[in-house]
Amino acid sequence: MKNSALITGASGGIGYELAKIHASKGGDLILVARNLEKLNQLKNEIENSFHSNVIVIAKDLSIAAEVDELFQEVNNLGIQIDILINNAGFGDFGFFATADWNKTAEIIDLNIRSLTHVTRLFLPGMIKQGSGRIMNVASTAAFQAGPLMSVYYASKAYVLSFSQALYNEVASHGITVTALCPGPTHTGFKKAAGLNDSMLFKRAKVATALDVANYGYRAMTKGKMIAVHGFTNSVIASAGKFFPRKFVIQMVRKLQEKTKQPI
Ligand SMILES: NC(=O)c1ccc[n+]([C@@H]2O[C@H](COP(=O)([O-])OP(=O)(O)OC[C@H]3O[C@@H](n4cnc5c(N)ncnc54)[C@H](OP(=O)(O)O)[C@@H]3O)[C@@H](O)[C@H]2O)c1
Repeated sequence: MKNSALITGASGGIGYELAKIHASKGGDLILVARNLEKLNQLKNEIENSFHSNVIVIAKDLSIAAEVDELFQEVNNLGIQIDILINNAGFGDFGFFATADWNKTAEIIDLNIRSLTHVTRLFLPGMIKQGSGRIMNVASTAAFQAGPLMSVYYASKAYVLSFSQALYNEVASHGITVTALCPGPTHTGFKKAAGLNDSMLFKRAKVATALDVANYGYRAMTKGKMIAVHGFTNSVIASAGKFFPRKFVIQMVRKLQEKTKQPI
């Protein structure tokens, strides 16, 4: 494989667009998500349009054993990963006290544990070859606490913090780590998180997955440490520096709130 990128959460949304962008640059791909049918559709689409080799691997990354299996399968194929894009993630709308615990635990397992585990498994190979790019998809949610999606926001704060520390640790090995921070974006995320009526997605400007992916891919190629998509999102992300913390958190709650309160 040449210039091989492993993308998690490639069956839809931002990951799907990132895969096509990488293929358009002539790179090969390993696409990971749970839905094998969608992954195969994307593989066919890419192979019909670009000169890329595509391998699909269906895994539920919220299950630790399946992360190990992913690494084993890539290793058995003898593939060295040049680009790792940790994109798979989801959220859940509602009060923490009444949230479905299994779903909450799955957010932590996918957004935090699996992202960290996948990175830990593939990073030594990049260090050995003396180069590599890692992109971790965080969110503008990473910059402040988020009532009504508390664990999701906290998980993205973890991704941002982890990515910055790693950026520093691996820079001397020729590896960069980019934390991509999108704001609200039209993908499957809104439905999966139960955010259909949320004010967040009623804002005038919700980004497209293609715009976010293009922006993120460019930032990763340049080796940027943090990439916040869009001017408004950059302003919102820095609100915590200028306003009292409790005020910012209350504003986030207002944005999170649906037309109907959760029960
Ligand atoms: N859309 C937004 O407004 C927004 C804003 C900020 C940040 N983000 C972040 O952007 C990233 C991509 O999300 P998206 O917006 O593109 O949403 P999406 O369309 O729902 O895509 C999520 C991807 O993750 C995969 N996935 C979910 N659970 C998985 C699991 N247990 N194991 C493996 N793969 C799994 C899904 O595929 P399968 O269902 O096939 O597994 C899908 O390919 C996420 O980390 C999200 O938090 C999104």
